[in-house]
This record gives sequence, C-alpha cells and structure tokens, in this order.
Amino acid sequence: MPTYLVTGASRGIGYEFVRQLSEDAASTIIGMVRDKDATEKRFAEEVGRSNIHIVKGDLQDHNSLKNACREVASITGGSLDYLIANASFFPPNTGFATVADLMETPDQYLSDLEETFQVNVVGNIQLFNTFLPLILKGETKKVITLGSLNGDTDLTAKYNLATMVPYSISKAALNMAVAKYSAEYREKGVLFMSIAPGSTATFEPMTEKQQARLMEDTKRFMAHAPHFAGLASPAESVALVRKVMEKCSIENGDGGTYVSQFGNKQWQ
Ligand SMILES: NC(=O)c1ccc[n+]([C@@H]2O[C@H](COP(=O)([O-])OP(=O)(O)OC[C@H]3O[C@@H](n4cnc5c(N)ncnc54)[C@H](OP(=O)(O)O)[C@@H]3O)[C@@H](O)[C@H]2O)c1
Repeated sequence: MPTYLVTGASRGIGYEFVRQLSEDAASTIIGMVRDKDATEKRFAEEVGRSNIHIVKGDLQDHNSLKNACREVASITGGSLDYLIANASFFPPNTGFATVADLMETPDQYLSDLEETFQVNVVGNIQLFNTFLPLILKGETKKVITLGSLNGDTDLTAKYNLATMVPYSISKAALNMAVAKYSAEYREKGVLFMSIAPGSTATFEPMTEKQQARLMEDTKRFMAHAPHFAGLASPAESVALVRKVMEKCSIENGDGGTYVSQFGNKQWQ
C-alpha cells in the first residue's frame, strides 16, 4: 500500500497531486503545508477522503520539518515510499523580471535571490535530509522534485529566456542537488529525480509589465515548442508527471536526471 508525502499541498499542483493520488483508496497520502487548518478544511469540503492526512511544515523551518517527519512516521508506521518535493517559492513582485529590470531595484533583487535559494534549494535539501531515514525504509524509495524548464541552462542559453531570474537559478541549483543525492543514494536503492510539470495554470494575476515580459519569453520559447497552445490545467500536468514518476527507475538510468512531463527534454 504505497505511502506518499507531497509538499506544497495547499494549492496548485501539490493540491492536485494529493487529490489524484488519493483516488486509490489503498494509498496513504500526506500533504505538507504551512496552514494546516485551512488545507484540512479545503480537502474535507472538496475531496473528502479518509486516506488524506495533512501535516504542518515550512521549508524555511528545520524544526517544523522534523516535527512533520515524526507525524508522517506515526501515520505510515515509520517508512515512506514517495517524497514529492513540490513546494516552491516564486517571488511575487519580481518573478517575471529580467536581470536588467532587477538591477533597477538591487535590494529587492538580492532579497528575492536569497529567499528563493533558501526555500527552493536549502529548504528542499533539509527536506531530503529529514525524510531520508523514512524513504530508506520504504518499498518504492522515490524522491521526486518538481523541476522547471526554466532550470535548464542549455534551453535558457539557446532561446534567450530572460525572465524568472532568481527562480530559474534556484531550480538549476536544485537539479544539481538531486544529482548529488542520487550519486550518494543510488546504491542504496533510492531514486532521486527531477520532473518538470510544464507550464500550468496556477499563476496569480500579473501586472501589465509582468505580462509583457512573460510574452517576450513565450515568443522566444515558441521556437522550441511551436505547438504550445497555452497553460495546461493542474490535472493535466499532474497526470503526465505521475506517468513519468511511476515508470522511472534506477535500472532505467533515471537516477539524478532532469526531465519534462513527457520524460524527455521536450519541455512543452
Ligand atoms: N505552474 C507552473 O507553470 C510550473 C511550471 C514549472 C514548474 N513548476 C513547479 O511545480 C511546483 C508546483 O508549482 P505551482 O505552480 O503549483 O506552485 P504554487 O501554486 O506557487 O504553490 C506553491 C506551493 O509551495 C508552498 N510553499 C511556498 N513556500 C513554502 C515554504 N517555505 N515551505 C513550505 N511550502 C511552501 C505554497 O504554500 P502556501 O500556500 O503556504 O504559500 C504552495 O503550496 C513548483 O515546484 C514549481 O516550481 C510549476
């Protein structure tokens, strides 16, 4: 009976992971969130399944991760099959800015860089460290991070993708963390892998300037994916990521790799 921990389960793609995975009544799904009461209420009202559990945890607070790990162990009996590291910080004001835009507000630039790195890189590394003892006792032993096409340096260089600067840097760094953990834990049977969900409709409303910047990047990106028809729904993206997540294995050579929702380097 597989057990899953999904971080960032309060909304967007993380919420959808919990909703879809809990369709299998034999599975145990644990969502990690910052606002436990609000998320429990939302799942109770909208989904209402007894195999969903919500625990509190903040990627910027190591003690909260340790507490979450104890709670997860008591729910699962001390093991964990899948850790889905989905939670992520995207700077709300400057997320779609380019380097030139950011240099107009250098203090904001630095603080966005620091916070993005703290959550998306340091926070996820703390998450791996905290939950590895449970994963090592699990059957499936899969640690999946949600990557982004914006973390691909080759794609960024080829198409001059200029926006999402701190976020993209953090996603590229997280890919390296995944590769390093894979290098260490592959022999112990743990698959570490990064899978990007593709552009998905979870964005907050944007200012005109943000929209203009995103459109410039999207036009350049169309050279890579001329068929791109707009944002996918969370349900569509999660269904694709799940297929890759189920199929991937150490034996197939997937350990430490970084792929799209199609299981390859086609990002849309
Ligand atoms: N949407 C896309 O187009 C897209 C594209 C490529 C990759 N991705 C990746 O897919 C994943 C999910 O994306 P999304 O669009 O669903 O994101 P989202 O709507 O912005 O949700 C982010 C989630 O992360 C949580 N979170 C943020 N900071 C946290 C912290 N310090 N500790 C714990 N949780 C924290 C948020 O919790 P709160 O509710 O408490 O803020 C929320 O649940 C992310 O890793 C993202 O980078 C998304």
